[in-house]
Amino acid sequence: MLQIPNRFLSLLAVGMGLILIPSCDFMDKSAKTNQSVAEKKENLIFQESLGFNLEEQFQFCEEQLKKSAAGHTDYNTHPRLIESGDTHWEMPKNDVLVWTVGFYPGILWQMYDITHKEYWKEEALKRTLPLEPYKYNKEHHDIGFMMYCSYGQAYRLTGKKEYRDVLIQSAKSLITRFNPKVGTIKSWSNELHPQWKEHITIIDNMLNLELLFWASKETGDPVYRDIAVKHAETTMANHFRDDFSCYHVVEYDENTGAVRNKNTSQGYADESVWARGQAWAVYGYSMVYRETGDPKFLDFAKKVSERYIAGLPEDYIPYWDFSLTGKKGESRDASAAAIAASGLIELSSLVKTTELQKRYRAAADAILNSLASPAYSAKNVNDAFLLHSTGAKPQGNEIDVALIYADYYYLEALRRRKSLSEKS
Ligand code: GLY
Repeated sequence: MLQIPNRFLSLLAVGMGLILIPSCDFMDKSAKTNQSVAEKKENLIFQESLGFNLEEQFQFCEEQLKKSAAGHTDYNTHPRLIESGDTHWEMPKNDVLVWTVGFYPGILWQMYDITHKEYWKEEALKRTLPLEPYKYNKEHHDIGFMMYCSYGQAYRLTGKKEYRDVLIQSAKSLITRFNPKVGTIKSWSNELHPQWKEHITIIDNMLNLELLFWASKETGDPVYRDIAVKHAETTMANHFRDDFSCYHVVEYDENTGAVRNKNTSQGYADESVWARGQAWAVYGYSMVYRETGDPKFLDFAKKVSERYIAGLPEDYIPYWDFSLTGKKGESRDASAAAIAASGLIELSSLVKTTELQKRYRAAADAILNSLASPAYSAKNVNDAFLLHSTGAKPQGNEIDVALIYADYYYLEALRRRKSLSEKS
């Protein structure tokens, strides 16, 4: 593998269709904290551009959706996973406690956006409307995933007032979980997660903030946005190590806001780096910068993204936990890859220099090239878009399967990539 001294990598080297991942000031700081991370960064080489045709990939996704929609007839259930070796989606019942209910309708709305076919709008609506009662959910933070991915897309694409009302009620429900003494939204209940006794915040919560930013823009009421910003700031202060890798779970004293514990639930170990958690951070801080324009969030989005990139193996799809990279028998997490690809494309459109724009676009392209390849594509295998995701390995759940949220963020990443190409 090509070895180049770190200091020379501050220039983007483009040659023979390859981009060397450059070193920037913020990378050097993180490199000092973790030599192996720095070495990996120096060795990473990304392809400059997409190795597949975007329109053909959209057509593939549409063909897969035709199959899954035909098999999904009970709209009080939702496609969630396909076990390795199976062909069709398992469809658990919709429930207020199930964070994944909004992704399938969200995929169908995205397909409507891509194709403008009324058929997909109708299919999306049939699966969106049954979710309305969840707008009152105050039991956990996932209302952002549940409602913004479904009703959020519905409102974006139709402008219908009734969908807006559902979303505003959802935002109202979410902010009831904000604890001003802590400065974050409480993610999980102690009843369902008795290992933690007080205020639990998980990194995934960053994604639910998008609903709050939207609500402030729609209503003119700053309360939602103020809570989102405070949550992002508190999480930035407490959820990350010196090398910008993140903990999954932080428990706070609910009265003083002091940190009680830093743990994992879905990662390998408390001090390891759960791949999807780091991907949520990439996506989440890029989105928070887009919404606030505050440079401290851009700086942080770059740092957590560099840490994500540094944890990748040669095919750019992470092992489900970075600490297990290269370990025989350990599974990958294509869902983390899809989330990170979507976040990196967004980041590439927000950074200020051409060098960094190219860097993050190249990183996203390398991930997408791998996801679209036969190694990860579900083409001719099952009804999903992507294979090889891992949901919750420590709990023994969803190991090396197709997952609905991998497909949701994959389609979003492809759409974002297309609009990036159209702008440049
Ligand atoms: N937000 C739940 C998960 O990433 O598994």
